[in-house]
Amino acid sequence: MLNFKLRRLPARVAVLWLAVVLAGCGLVFPDNMQRFTPADAAVASADPRATQAGLDVLAAGGNAFDAAVAVAATLGVVEPSSSGFGGGGFFLLFRAECGCYHFIDARETAPAAATPATYLDQAGNPVRGLTVSGPLAAGIPGEPAGMAYLAENFGSKPLAELLQPAIYHAENGFPMSPRALLGLRFRKNTVSRWPAMAEIFLPGGELPAVGYVVKQPELADTIRRFAAGGHDGFYKGETARRLVAGVQAAGGNWTLEDLANYQVVEREPLVTNYRGMQVVSAPLPSSGGIVMAQVFNFLSAYSEEQLSGPQGQHLLIEALRRAYRDRALYMGDSDFVDVPVERLVSREYMDAQRADVSLTRATPSASLQGVAEDGSAGDQTTHFSVLDSDGNRVAGTITINTWYGSAFMPPGTGVILNNEMDDFSIKPGVPNEFELVGAAANAVAPGKRPLSSMSPTFLESDRGVAVVGTPGGSRIITMVLRAALAWLDGATAEQMVSLKRFHHQYLPDSVSYESGAFTADEIAALEAMGHSLKEVQRPFGNMNVVTWDIGPNRVESASDPRGEGEGRVY
Ligand code: DON
Repeated sequence: MLNFKLRRLPARVAVLWLAVVLAGCGLVFPDNMQRFTPADAAVASADPRATQAGLDVLAAGGNAFDAAVAVAATLGVVEPSSSGFGGGGFFLLFRAECGCYHFIDARETAPAAATPATYLDQAGNPVRGLTVSGPLAAGIPGEPAGMAYLAENFGSKPLAELLQPAIYHAENGFPMSPRALLGLRFRKNTVSRWPAMAEIFLPGGELPAVGYVVKQPELADTIRRFAAGGHDGFYKGETARRLVAGVQAAGGNWTLEDLANYQVVEREPLVTNYRGMQVVSAPLPSSGGIVMAQVFNFLSAYSEEQLSGPQGQHLLIEALRRAYRDRALYMGDSDFVDVPVERLVSREYMDAQRADVSLTRATPSASLQGVAEDGSAGDQTTHFSVLDSDGNRVAGTITINTWYGSAFMPPGTGVILNNEMDDFSIKPGVPNEFELVGAAANAVAPGKRPLSSMSPTFLESDRGVAVVGTPGGSRIITMVLRAALAWLDGATAEQMVSLKRFHHQYLPDSVSYESGAFTADEIAALEAMGHSLKEVQRPFGNMNVVTWDIGPNRVESASDPRGEGEGRVY
């Protein structure tokens, strides 16, 4: 289990190792961690220009939090399909100087005028597309507030300086990549409905070629106003007026108050322990930390032998089935609804769940208590990981939800609005774009944050630390969880991002998998147990990982081979 023996460790690591073992669980490890510093700093993100922006900030003496702002802002410009100033996200931080964690919830909120009825027809059925395309799909953005909060409270450099690379790329343009074009092809019809959006992304009304230089001068001006005014430079004044005017003119319901009222929330990260590994991840309004804790608790009762091969795959699928069922039934924004978090993450709860699990047969999801009634998960959204040479860390997962968000851009802003309203459960049991179902806990309400799967995560053990995360909608949690299991088994950063992926989310009752995730024998064995397996056409995820192995003091950084990103060590 442990990757190296005490007697072979350098003295300082042996002390740390002992502290971890004696502590058993809880947050003791980082108290000791502060005494050690990594040999290198590292950034991994979905775009080489964003990675470079982060490294430049570190080289100029900035810390991981400064770098995170530069990376996030740059991604919002050069990876416009996935995140940006019109979106939201989560930033998980570790501060080495105090050994403390912070979780910054910069998730979008529902506008004050949004209710379930906004998205239902007279018969009470969801109106197709309203939560996916156009201004009603957009929640009030949180990402600019998140960046301003990070810079102000944790960074060492002025926000305006950290935004320079984003302004540069918005002004000077970036060449259209194959991946950006793939997403644009999916959204072409919607993009063409909104002139401000089409002007930038559909030159002459047509899809551009790979290499076409996308310039975003209005976005550059929006970022300049943000740089000059900080939080209020986005949420009040000229930018706010333009955003609201554009949304309202196109049939949306935002008000200036919605923007002026937006605030990030600092929350306690969700911490769980599994076989000597401490997993620090996202709390509500992300389901990620809870679902992972449930799965780890479920698995903890089985032997390593039971957890290997098709038997282990079966048990992991059964754990996911049950945890995702709970996600659908119970989870939502805990500022608005009571979610039984303590119970869900308790060992006893998963002990009871395990009682009806067969070691040899799949449990049909329909046989579990579910929600009444009855898209494509891609790799939009973006995740980056940062470690600085003091040991500070940031795991940031940020999004505008599906490809190019709502595909709506209020004129004069350059800001692509998210379609995060689709992460609410518009009607109990009706699947969203990620085929997730939900219930009352995740219903739309004014000011509420939609339930997320984004899971920026730290893994910590005697081995060291890993900073992990990925896009992938509902599949995010499974991807991060399997990367955690791989890290526990000694995987490198490169191996973690390259791991072939599979996933189960309760409904639909099937295991989606990438080619190569299972051997032919494993497929046969899982099907014989009653699992329905579906190979996906497109790979899922775009993971970015930084690892620091304390024993050899080795830092590694890796970006998913499925994407166009870059992990670098500095
Ligand atoms: O918050 C969530 O769970 C989603 N909005 C994330 C979307 C995502 O990862 C898109 N990629 N497929």
